[in-house]
Amino acid sequence: MTAIAAPLDPIETASRDELAALQLERMRWSLAHAYANVPHYAATFDAHGVRPDDLRDLSDLAKFPFVTKAAYRDNYPFGLCAVPRERLARIHASSGTTGKPTVVAYTKRDVDTWADVVARSIRAAGGRPGDLVHVSYGYGLFTGGLGAHYGAERLGCTVIPMSGGQTEKQVQLIADFAPRVIMVTPSYMLALLDEMERQGIDPASSSLEIGIFGAEPWTQEMRVRLEARAGIDAVDIYGLSEVIGPGVAQECVETKDGLHVWEDHFYPEIVDPEMGAVLPDGERGELVLTSLTKEAMPVVRYRTRDLTRLLPGTARTMRRIEKITGRCDDMLIVRGVNVFPTQIEELILRDARLAPQYQIKLSREGNLDSMTVVVEPGIGVGEPGDAPAILRDRIKNLVGVTTAIEVVPPGTIPQSQGKAQHVFDARKPA
Ligand code: DLL
Repeated sequence: MTAIAAPLDPIETASRDELAALQLERMRWSLAHAYANVPHYAATFDAHGVRPDDLRDLSDLAKFPFVTKAAYRDNYPFGLCAVPRERLARIHASSGTTGKPTVVAYTKRDVDTWADVVARSIRAAGGRPGDLVHVSYGYGLFTGGLGAHYGAERLGCTVIPMSGGQTEKQVQLIADFAPRVIMVTPSYMLALLDEMERQGIDPASSSLEIGIFGAEPWTQEMRVRLEARAGIDAVDIYGLSEVIGPGVAQECVETKDGLHVWEDHFYPEIVDPEMGAVLPDGERGELVLTSLTKEAMPVVRYRTRDLTRLLPGTARTMRRIEKITGRCDDMLIVRGVNVFPTQIEELILRDARLAPQYQIKLSREGNLDSMTVVVEPGIGVGEPGDAPAILRDRIKNLVGVTTAIEVVPPGTIPQSQGKAQHVFDARKPA
């Protein structure tokens, strides 16, 4: 039976004017809601000398103060809630690098909105009602698993709530249940493909047709590899706990040209990461997001730390963000040169003789930083030969840093089960 594509939500193709009118109405509500019910926003708006009424058009948002992850820490666990605890239907949390987790909360209506935006995302990725969807994002406090789950159900799909881990079993269930769609981090997808090959299954002949990959940065080169190896369309899904979880922005399968921000619920701005000034569309900077409909934890000008730029809509009216290059915090400074792990990934993947898993190790000898890129040879593509030397030259010429390349036997680099850790920085703070 061929599933029929579900119709788009009317707002996905509404005119920019219609969208802007809806955004303004919703933004007024959201600012007033935050100001009236969350002491943190009342205090920071007051300190900035702004009131929700000062928002006359969308660009007035720039007058309002930012909120950062620190506010979540300072108001742990429920201090940023705008509704009484009894009205919360769900709690999620994301683990920070240090200290307490970042807690986020949802009313029943928020859970509903979230299911709607994820359903919209799966549809944009090419998913259809009736599809079998295998979810390998972790279930639990992480927003990935349950976010994907509710969205797939909302679209009318059959969900396999596999969660992360148990790689061998994942592969067995994919072979037995024959899902059309998989939702997983791109790095864990690599582990699943390796396991398929280990079990003698050709990934390209599996039932999978669509991979909805997110929760960590990944490159165009990785898309090309994943698509060729698995015989799928690989599309990008973006989101973060503080704003709702997965489903803030999604790439459309027909264009694969960046991720449409679901702007009727989340209002994007790009700011200069250092100065905080709003940058015009098209310029690269830090993504800042404001929720327009969230009840339990409205968020006003959240500094995501994610680096990208805003582009006009294509497959939908809503604006796109370019694939995320990385987080401000991920930027490595090696002998004064700025390096993003995604730049290294891109160059590794240019050579078919190298596997896509990698690590970047940093240390300091005397006063000098030293960087080593650890790679594995690709499987079934012959010897790496001069691939490491070519990689070293490309990194020197295109990124501007001198690195050592270490080739380790296949299977040495620990496989990701969720978000991959690529960087190991042993340098002492300067
Ligand atoms: O990772 C939500 C999510 C789950 C998104 C499943 C997509 C799929 P957090 O754990 O709060 O939430 O981490 C959010 O992950 O600020 C980005 O730095 C990064 N991130 C998420 N999606 C992408 C993506 C989830 N598509 C943080 N590309 C964000 C690059 C991403 N980075």
